[in-house]
Amino acid sequence: MCGIIGINSSKPVSATIINSLKKLEYRGYDSAGIATLYDGSINEIKSEGRVDNLEKSSLVKNMEGTVGIGHVRWATHGLPNSINAHPHSSQNVSVVHNGIIENSTLLKKFLVGKGHKFKSQTDTEVIVHLITENLKTENIVDSIKKTLKSLHGSFALGIIFKDEPDLIVGARRGSPLAVGYGPNENYLGSDSYALKSMTNKITYLNDGEFCIIKKDHVEFFSEDGTKINKKVLELSSEEEKYDKGDFKHFMAKEIEEQPITLKNGIKEYIDTSNNDINIHNFPWKINEISSVTLIGCGTAYHSCLMAKYWFEELTSLDVNIDIASEFRYRKNRFKKDTLYVFVSQSGETADTYAALDLCIKNNMKTCAVVNVIESSIARDSEFVLPIHCGTEIGVASTKAFLGQILILYILALKLGSLKKDIEKKTFIEKINDLKELPKLIEKTLSLDNKIQAVSSTFNEAKGSMFLGRGFSFPIALEGALKLKELSYIHAEGYPAGEMKHGPLALIEEGMPVVVLAPRDDYYKKTISNMQEVIARGAKVLLITNKSKDEIVSENIWETIEVETTNEDLFPFLLTIPLQKLAYYSALKKGFDIDKPRNLAKSVTVE
Ligand code: G6P
Repeated sequence: MCGIIGINSSKPVSATIINSLKKLEYRGYDSAGIATLYDGSINEIKSEGRVDNLEKSSLVKNMEGTVGIGHVRWATHGLPNSINAHPHSSQNVSVVHNGIIENSTLLKKFLVGKGHKFKSQTDTEVIVHLITENLKTENIVDSIKKTLKSLHGSFALGIIFKDEPDLIVGARRGSPLAVGYGPNENYLGSDSYALKSMTNKITYLNDGEFCIIKKDHVEFFSEDGTKINKKVLELSSEEEKYDKGDFKHFMAKEIEEQPITLKNGIKEYIDTSNNDINIHNFPWKINEISSVTLIGCGTAYHSCLMAKYWFEELTSLDVNIDIASEFRYRKNRFKKDTLYVFVSQSGETADTYAALDLCIKNNMKTCAVVNVIESSIARDSEFVLPIHCGTEIGVASTKAFLGQILILYILALKLGSLKKDIEKKTFIEKINDLKELPKLIEKTLSLDNKIQAVSSTFNEAKGSMFLGRGFSFPIALEGALKLKELSYIHAEGYPAGEMKHGPLALIEEGMPVVVLAPRDDYYKKTISNMQEVIARGAKVLLITNKSKDEIVSENIWETIEVETTNEDLFPFLLTIPLQKLAYYSALKKGFDIDKPRNLAKSVTVE
């Protein structure tokens, strides 16, 4: 992952670099660093942990220099400590890097042979020494060209040179990189978001390209060193303000914002007066599509799995789902009549992007369901369906998940109606139910006390299980993932009907098990599976919906009842208590809820 920033200005840059690094912390937060050019040398300051630690250092406060680079790290090679933090510098060159250099061991051997001394355990340091070595015989452009040619793997780079007081080099292969333009200063950043407080004029580097950033202009080069012209895009200049408000954590705020996420999505895509769905400028004819493949990672993959159930119910399309890191390396049979849908909050996830890229190279139909509309996945997909849930800060995805499944549900409904797979009457009923959903979510959000109370039991247990069937199964997976991410408790999501094929062996006296059993077609079967785990000593937290029918089971530890709606929409409601369970459990443990250990919000390495 990692976030990089570079500023070439006529004013001191360290304070602005620190502010931009704070915005990039969603990419990694195990260490941070900054390097500037001052008085004919490279000054480098790095610290373990958050950008706050770096900012507190008195050295940074007094740091001079009008040309600088900064970095937030998510460790790939080497421990997360201040030695391995970026920038990495030789006497002449300083580098920040996002990505992985796959041939670093070989390159290091070669460079050590040439007398270079390494200080860190990182792959990045080979880039510093390679450039330093190449500069002995080449000019800046040729040394960069030669260095990039030797590197295998992925990178976005920011580079400064001791002897070049008006120059930052940026280079990209795989990992995203943007250039920004300001008044007598120019910038480099992992994304436009990090640059937004400085400029809305942006150029995105394509794979293989590099650039030279001077104070008053920027030059772009293709891989072979040929000068190229690139477009300057003018993005919206509105800078989204976000703070925690009265909430302790962004995650708590984002959970509570979910009715707004749904209202925004419904407003954007549902034509309430005509009971229809607006998906404008859909670039394909419906008879050109006979199957859909949905691809994502993490929570976004769970959205894909959720959508599979809806697409199968509402359309006659063949539906496949895939984890992006698997899809990108499999021998896929690409089919012209398949719509490939890429689901991603950030729109920057490296594996999801690589899967998209593969589809683009095979001339497939590509559609992105993303939150960040300026992201690489959104820019490069043929068609984009934005989620409209606003910036999500908490590393564990909450409102973006609900936003994604809403859009996918709407897409399934639309394609089903275009294909005439759903009757008009049913279509209208489903749209009317959807319009009520934000209110139902609001009611579900008030189920706090019980969830707070049960969360202690999860904290005390060795592990837990989340079970569901049908529409509830993807939500069981998502509930287990949330608990793992935030509370570091082992949690497994499982199809309830599969328990007897192995996992039942894990159940022991007092183990907390969440059973998702709304009154849908699967209800009775799930209740039978629940009884099987209760019989083996599990403490079952049953999440069902309000109903006048009594639950015919004994010895249920706790029951939470969500509102009643049509069975397609239960997954939205079931998600809420599971998000809260993970939140309260982490809160009681005193963990860092918005930035769980070892994770990052945007995973830009494969
Ligand atoms: C990271 C985040 C997850 C997210 C996944 C995919 O692992 O911590 O919350 O689900 O990446 O991210 P994307 O931005 O593609 O949805």
